Amino acid sequence: MSSKEPSKTIAIASDHGGYELKVELKKDLMDMGYTVLDLGSDSLESVDYPDFGYALAGAMKEGKAERGVLICGSGIGVSIAANRHAEIRAALVHDALGTRLSRQHNDANVVCFGGRTIGPEVARDCLKIFLETEFEKGGRHSRRVDKLSDPPKGK
Ligand code: RB5
Repeated sequence: MSSKEPSKTIAIASDHGGYELKVELKKDLMDMGYTVLDLGSDSLESVDYPDFGYALAGAMKEGKAERGVLICGSGIGVSIAANRHAEIRAALVHDALGTRLSRQHNDANVVCFGGRTIGPEVARDCLKIFLETEFEKGGRHSRRVDKLSDPPKGK
């Protein structure tokens, strides 16, 4: 079964640096038939990227969305914020291969883009790959991904 289930809810959030790309990707998601949970921001006004990374991680932890899309200027700030949550595996991607591997090997549940570092066409392509690529479940990849949720204590 394809992971592209149109009934799926996808959460999306950005700061001001990712706002314009967020508008474009949100439209793409809706065109693909997904339900979109837009957690802001809502303009080009300067805001703090951790607020949006945390909002998206919180929504996913509460089961409000199965996958997430985060965008800031570089994609770095929002990915750091989201990855502070054990349930989140956020991948900052720049190309198709990296995006595909983030799903196949890492079971990434959030994809991050830099609104100032990636063109809209590449981002659009990566988003589709992120949504349609399955995790290679079982074996070494599952073992490694399980370890991500359970880091060693006191190290
Ligand atoms: C905002 O200017 C910028 O710092 C932010 O969008 C992001 O790139 C942070 O990582």
